Amino acid sequence: MVSAFIDHRLDGVIRVISIINRSSLQPLYCSYCSTEQVCKTVDTDVQIHSDHFGFTYGASDVICKGEHMQNATHVLITTDKEGSADHKMEYLPIKNKVVRETFKFNFTICISSLFDNYNNVLQFAQTMEMYKLLGVQHVVIYNTSCGPDLEKLLKHYETEGILEIVSWPIDQFLNPSRGWNSQLHAGEIQYFGQLVTLNECIYRNMYQSKYVLLNDIDEIIMPYKHTNLASLMEDLQPAHPNIGVFLIENHIFPKTQFEESGKFKRAEWKNIPGINIMEHIYREPFPKGVFNPKKMIVNPRKVQQTSVHSTLKDFGGSFVVPFDVCRIVHVRVPLQGHLTKKELFVDKRVWDFEQELVPNVDQTLKLSGFL
Ligand SMILES: *[C@@H]1O[C@H](CO)[C@@H](O)[C@H](O)[C@H]1NC(C)=O
Ligand SMILES: *[C@@H]1O[C@H](CO)[C@@H](O)[C@H](O)[C@H]1NC(C)=O
Ligand SMILES: *[C@@H]1O[C@H](CO)[C@@H](O)[C@H](O)[C@H]1NC(C)=O
Ligand SMILES: *[C@@H]1O[C@H](CO)[C@@H](O)[C@H](O)[C@H]1NC(C)=O
Repeated sequence: MVSAFIDHRLDGVIRVISIINRSSLQPLYCSYCSTEQVCKTVDTDVQIHSDHFGFTYGASDVICKGEHMQNATHVLITTDKEGSADHKMEYLPIKNKVVRETFKFNFTICISSLFDNYNNVLQFAQTMEMYKLLGVQHVVIYNTSCGPDLEKLLKHYETEGILEIVSWPIDQFLNPSRGWNSQLHAGEIQYFGQLVTLNECIYRNMYQSKYVLLNDIDEIIMPYKHTNLASLMEDLQPAHPNIGVFLIENHIFPKTQFEESGKFKRAEWKNIPGINIMEHIYREPFPKGVFNPKKMIVNPRKVQQTSVHSTLKDFGGSFVVPFDVCRIVHVRVPLQGHLTKKELFVDKRVWDFEQELVPNVDQTLKLSGFL
């Protein structure tokens, strides 16, 4: 069991986001209680998400099939039909009890599972400062582990208030894979439970944020015709009023190709661990006929289940945002490493923000003790 939420779109049922061994299915029951410690045990509808990338354990929803669930305060999934549940097991608090129509945040970013010794400080600081300029007020990151320098920067952003760090010790329960494909990366669950954290983040922010962006730590969902995400969505949403899922193409900017003038090879950033995204302005062409692994801007109230590159169950459908309106700036190892600079496109969109971005990054590096 990971988290429990009331789902007001489905008659106020309790949805427990869970991780289930797909080859060991058994009937599950739901024991839910009100504040007066009155508990009821009921049947459940177990929904294992259709995307699991072949791993044994899959992201799942256990839907409790009872009555009067909205006044319950805590819930437990059990295999015991009699409800004489093992009371030593921890009940989960039930969240999202109240529907809200105004939100604390307009844009929240969900970053799934940070793990190993990830220590890419400069790219993280540049990306966070870029998000802020684009109008993001809230970033949620699921932390399994990270490197010592990034730890310092995360603490800084947590103190500042923009970053919510969710403890995600998945490696204490399962052997997580370090990649998405079970053929290539051994493990019991895909990518440190990425599918679970993305779904958890949607429900966590359902009544907190107008929109939620689901992307990786090294990706920026970048408007190319608007100066920020608010003006982008002010155009997109009325043009597609029922749509709750906006799909954004991913584009790779190889970290191996450097911009010629060296204008952002700044002395201040020389000793900061990580990639300087401002030096990487060459974009790989996208081969025709190949699947583009898009990422999403969603209205969380219109999503029931999500995968990484699309939703699995939503209300209202999805829309592919044209490449010239919005695309992902993804600075990383090249995908088509054989391409020379001449075969790549020059794409300096990040530079449009330099006047504010550079001093803001410096300020953050000072406040977090790097400069
Ligand atoms: C999942 O369940 C199967 C069938 O009960 C069992 O053989 C297997 O060991 C379980 N997997 C793990 C990783 O526990
Ligand atoms: C919830 O409230 C209803 C009355 O509104 C009551 O009949 C029911 O027993 C309560 N359920 C629980 C689990 O407390
Ligand atoms: C969200 O957007 C609305 C309308 O553009 C604005 O009035 C409000 O201040 C914004 N909220 C935050 C937290 O920035
Ligand atoms: C991230 O998780 C690791 C492992 O539990 C912990 O040592 C570290 O302090 C956490 N970092 C932050 C910034 O919460």
